Amino acid sequence: MSDPRPAFDNRITRMLGIDVPIANAPMGGVVGPALVEAMVRAGAMALVPGTIGTNNARQFVETLKAADCKGFGLNVPSSMADESIVDLILEHEIRFVTTSLGPIPGYVARLQAAGVRIFHVVTSLEGALAAADAGMDGLIVEGAEGAGRRGASEVSSLVLLPLITSRVAIPVIAAGGIADGKSMAAAFALGAEGVQMGTRMLASAEATVHPTLKDTLIAADEQSTIMVDRQAGRPMRVLRTPTTMLYQEGGDAFAELRGKVMRLYQEGDMTSGFACAGQVVGRVDGVLSVAEIIQRTSVEFDATLARLSRTYSPDRMPH
Ligand SMILES: Cc1cc2nc3c(=O)[nH]c(=O)nc-3n(C[C@H](O)[C@H](O)[C@H](O)COP(=O)(O)O)c2cc1C
Repeated sequence: MSDPRPAFDNRITRMLGIDVPIANAPMGGVVGPALVEAMVRAGAMALVPGTIGTNNARQFVETLKAADCKGFGLNVPSSMADESIVDLILEHEIRFVTTSLGPIPGYVARLQAAGVRIFHVVTSLEGALAAADAGMDGLIVEGAEGAGRRGASEVSSLVLLPLITSRVAIPVIAAGGIADGKSMAAAFALGAEGVQMGTRMLASAEATVHPTLKDTLIAADEQSTIMVDRQAGRPMRVLRTPTTMLYQEGGDAFAELRGKVMRLYQEGDMTSGFACAGQVVGRVDGVLSVAEIIQRTSVEFDATLARLSRTYSPDRMPH
């Protein structure tokens, strides 16, 4: 039977050696080896989370290698001071790295010299221009509708993507609000050549979180998230729960609660910690496997482009 998936062929698929330019968000405590393996099997852009720390990331990578899984990348939080992550990347011949929100780590030059492709996460035009000037291979552009830490100015993808893609020459992966083929096609219309999904993947079969959290996501609507910790200039989008409503202002109690997120993920105790989620949670209405997410998104992407070109092709327009 022929594969009904469209053939994606662009700068990102060629640069990273993948078939489908869809990345999983590198969510610590959520993305385990099974999710990364499923992404690799689907030909997508699989990312190992780096927020779990170098030792855990090493174990993670070794588990994948033992299962003969290759072709995944690694996310490195910009705040990560431990440079031994560089040895891990080079030793295991990891071909691409995303560096999260914040300054570009100094060791990036060492990685690029070894042929590793680096995509830096940005939330503003200023950040995008600086990353392009610094020689990054690509960008991940995070809109304010997405889950987790956002840019201080909270600009949404509809504005940010066309602005940035009209001013930088390097390829862009859109993050924030993307959960299916329609939203992926919209991001591509705005200039992106890839997408990253967080909230959609959090409600995947392979995400290593408690079913109570997945059920809460499925029941949530588009108004079910709030921004917390704005005061510190580092807004974070999370699920609206009685607990998160109490801690919008940040501070010590906020930091303490943030540290309890693993109890929420593992035990499903929704009063403990903050669950990051984006506004697109209102469009996620079922738990799907990673393979289904990639397959459905790819097919719907293709159908969306075909529908638009049928509806708006010049020979159908009144003259
Ligand atoms: C549960 C969860 C945890 C996340 N953790 C991280 C993280 O550790 N590092 C990071 O760069 N982004 C993290 N993110 C943000 C994602 O990388 C991504 O940018 C965002 O989810 C995209 O928006 P979306 O949720 O609308 O898809 C997280 C997102 C979620 C849902």
